[in-house]
Amino acid sequence: MDQQQAQERAKNLRELLNQYSYEYHVLDKPSVPDAEYDEKLRELQDLEGEFPELITEDSPTQRVGGEPLEGFQKVQHNVPMLSLGNAFNHQELRDFARRATGGTDEPIAFVCELKIDGLAVSLTYENGKFVRGATRGDGTTGEDITSNLRTIRSIPLSIKETERLEIRGEAFMPHKSFLSLNEAKEENGEEPFANPRNAAAGSLRQLNPKIAASRNLDIFLYGVGEWEASELESHSERLERIKQLGFKTNPQWKKCETIEEVIDYVTHWEAERNNLSYEIDGIVIKVDNLDQQEELGYTAKSPRWAIAYKFPAEEVITTLTDIELNVGRTGVVTPTAILEPVRVAGTTVKRASLHNEDLIREKDIRIGDTVVVKKAGDIIPEVVRSVADKRTGKEEEYHMPDACPDCGSELVRLEEEVALRCINPNCPAQLKEGLIHFVSRNAMNIDGLGEKVIIQLFQENLIHTIADIYRLKREELLELERMGEKSVSNLLEAINVSKGNSLEKLLFGLGIRFIGSKAAKTLAEEFETMENLQNAVDEDLIAIDEIGDKMADSIVQYFSEEKVAALLDELRELEVNMTYLGRKRKTAENEEASVFAGKTVVLTGKMERYTRDEAKEQIEAQGGSVTGSVSKKTDLLIAGEDAGSKYDKAEKLGVEIWDEEKLQEALER
Ligand code: IVH
Repeated sequence: MDQQQAQERAKNLRELLNQYSYEYHVLDKPSVPDAEYDEKLRELQDLEGEFPELITEDSPTQRVGGEPLEGFQKVQHNVPMLSLGNAFNHQELRDFARRATGGTDEPIAFVCELKIDGLAVSLTYENGKFVRGATRGDGTTGEDITSNLRTIRSIPLSIKETERLEIRGEAFMPHKSFLSLNEAKEENGEEPFANPRNAAAGSLRQLNPKIAASRNLDIFLYGVGEWEASELESHSERLERIKQLGFKTNPQWKKCETIEEVIDYVTHWEAERNNLSYEIDGIVIKVDNLDQQEELGYTAKSPRWAIAYKFPAEEVITTLTDIELNVGRTGVVTPTAILEPVRVAGTTVKRASLHNEDLIREKDIRIGDTVVVKKAGDIIPEVVRSVADKRTGKEEEYHMPDACPDCGSELVRLEEEVALRCINPNCPAQLKEGLIHFVSRNAMNIDGLGEKVIIQLFQENLIHTIADIYRLKREELLELERMGEKSVSNLLEAINVSKGNSLEKLLFGLGIRFIGSKAAKTLAEEFETMENLQNAVDEDLIAIDEIGDKMADSIVQYFSEEKVAALLDELRELEVNMTYLGRKRKTAENEEASVFAGKTVVLTGKMERYTRDEAKEQIEAQGGSVTGSVSKKTDLLIAGEDAGSKYDKAEKLGVEIWDEEKLQEALER
């Protein structure tokens, strides 16, 4: 075959293969057996092997060929990729419709679409070729994931539209791919993905496109960014057009003439969502007419012409097999439900806090009960109620014990508190928790001294009090299990470094009741030395704006204890710093006072009150730095709704986790 013939044949094969691929992956209607596709693909590969100059960018052989990348380039979105406001019930949908008609009774048509739970992406075509694929990122700047997106077979590498076109949609992992991927991961002893969304996002953020290629991802396209196809008048026409161009659109969309029709659609899919082969987390409702869309316009974060109806939190049923008690640092004894492991909203739940006995009564929860479990804010597992109908008579009512499960001393219920407390100051469980608190990030921040090591040291009788931490010896540490030369050296170094911490860290670490890290900072700034604070009386303390009566009383009470004075003397002797060092660096005043100063923060999940960008900006303005992934260096995770693997990882690493409300409180302080 000469060059000319080869070129013709290659072109012919490419067209055929692209057609077969379109029929298979986009239309779901293959016209030829797989073997025929494979045979033609092999022929093309051979031809391209012989005449490499014939390889084109959009050749089906080029879907998986990409070399691993060093990192992802940033991509600017000329038209921002916005998010959507939420509606949680039918009334909020009716309110949305009323806003859309400007409070009139004018009829207005909507398009309803399934809200696919994956990763929003943008695809750009120039001269009919797929040139760039990007993540949404913060809406303005995303990451270039072209080589990974090329591996998704339902994304056409070329289209019959030469005008520049940027089109948007949701890349996702179908249930089937998700299940087999997790099965394989588990077989390899790897951590499975929490849900298909994390799996899709994780796959598309791989630097090696071969990995993405092996993950069987798919995509539905639902909108346009930049596109001058002005002859179209409505979103529904756009969807049709997108489909005609060869893109995969979700077939379940529906044009609804009234909001009641929208509500029927929503109700239908709420019941049917589990019969789909992919995950959806709600319904997106869009005003159909494009002029009307334009008139309605945008808020800073989202269009006024669209809204996302979120399905209520998933509730599942399981058995409560036992109730376990945990004794906290302050002696509060908390009952925790032990559950028959069950999957809820993408993760396996085995335990859930029951908070206190009153709540157990209120929810009428008994050991052995069938219970309803959900994730509050889709994050924290919660026992909603028991299912009394399912009782066999063998269930046992639960009563909190009179004695501390750890030290056996009597539990008391303090005035105005629902919680029971162990007030034995020498209770081992409390001491242990107190030590864990002392070394934690916001306190003395001793790296390498996590919960597990503390428990180990405690059990080996190497530490009982805070001061003991500073007396640990190399030889005794080396004798411990899993402690090599290197980790012992690192640990001793970290302990030594912590001696130089500014006063507020020590103050917070002592675990004085009602004194959080913010109050500790205020006290350190005001009193400058531990000695001054030890000598302070109620009036001195109350004179400070941020210190209320309860805090003042607690401080005075704490420092009046002989044991405390002795502990502080010991710490002085061990050369633990007891003065306020302030910040050496010159910074804006607001940075000084902020809880975010010097902290490494990670944002995850969906937030209602801030866009990612806003949250990042405000945290940074207060001296924190925001990074993309959770590691040992992370100080704080802000978890919005539907937080996934970052949440799990943060939990595993013992990183402090806040919800959006807490973030708002801190930012507005
Ligand atoms: S429209 C400005 N349609 O939901 C309009 N979004 O918060 C933006 N999503 O980031 C999106 N399915 O990742 C739209 N049929 C659909 C969708 C959809 C899933 C996601 C998308 C977006 C988020 C909205």
